[in-house]
Amino acid sequence: MIEYSPTPKAELSAYEKAAEEGIDPRCIPQHLIEVPPVGEEIPYPIYSKIDQESWQILFNRQMELLPGRAGEAFLEGVQTLQLKNSQIPALRKLSSILEETTNWKIARIPGLLHERDFFQLLAERTFPSTDYIRGRHEIDYTPAPDLFHDIFGHMPMLTQPAFADFYQMFGKAALNASGAHRPMLERIHWFTVEFGLIKQTEGERIFGAGILSSKNEVIHALSNEVTKIPFDIETVTHQDYDVWHLQDVLFVLDSFEQLVDAFTGWTKKNGLL
Ligand SMILES: [Fe+2]
Repeated sequence: MIEYSPTPKAELSAYEKAAEEGIDPRCIPQHLIEVPPVGEEIPYPIYSKIDQESWQILFNRQMELLPGRAGEAFLEGVQTLQLKNSQIPALRKLSSILEETTNWKIARIPGLLHERDFFQLLAERTFPSTDYIRGRHEIDYTPAPDLFHDIFGHMPMLTQPAFADFYQMFGKAALNASGAHRPMLERIHWFTVEFGLIKQTEGERIFGAGILSSKNEVIHALSNEVTKIPFDIETVTHQDYDVWHLQDVLFVLDSFEQLVDAFTGWTKKNGLL
């Protein structure tokens, strides 16, 4: 008989802890039960007029806030992907643009994924995206992933070559991780992919999807209420964060090449890649 012992609390991911504490079920990760459609296989859903208007409201609001706040790479990515306020973009079209740009693809997934399914897709240079949009009553904040976060927040950065390489490497390393390396990798993900800042000649700019897809986080992130620390991967792996409130500590990269170099060194040192 095989006996399973529960994962020690310190080794649970933030989402696993949330699930244990009975938070919004849409935030509880699910396993993929079938291979998700990728690229050309993804149909364009029938969106209601309200859905299309929600995209327009969210897109216009963020784009108005982003000049002088979002990083150059992100803003260029919005152009490359031809994101516009007029219509919710088709995942298959975004997938084909990404394929030409950095050889990434899009898979359509049903909601928050279980970690291993998520990492597996990243390791295959495939970004998992939802294709439904938040309801109007939660236009300002939704705890669960939706297409605005996935498309607008994440995809522009996948057009940046060094970041695109880092993200695949992250997926591969995460598949090999166990024990204390899991929350460490989760912190690296949080403070880069979701809440990362980067130094540009004009000052600090945002590239993290968790910030760029949220009105409140965008305004808050560059304010004096946030302590900004130069990116150091060892410090990041020990920095706690709170999923449910505005962030009070963020890390600032010098360049995306710095991220690739630091992550390569850290994963090697820890035997993950
Ligand atoms: Fe995200």
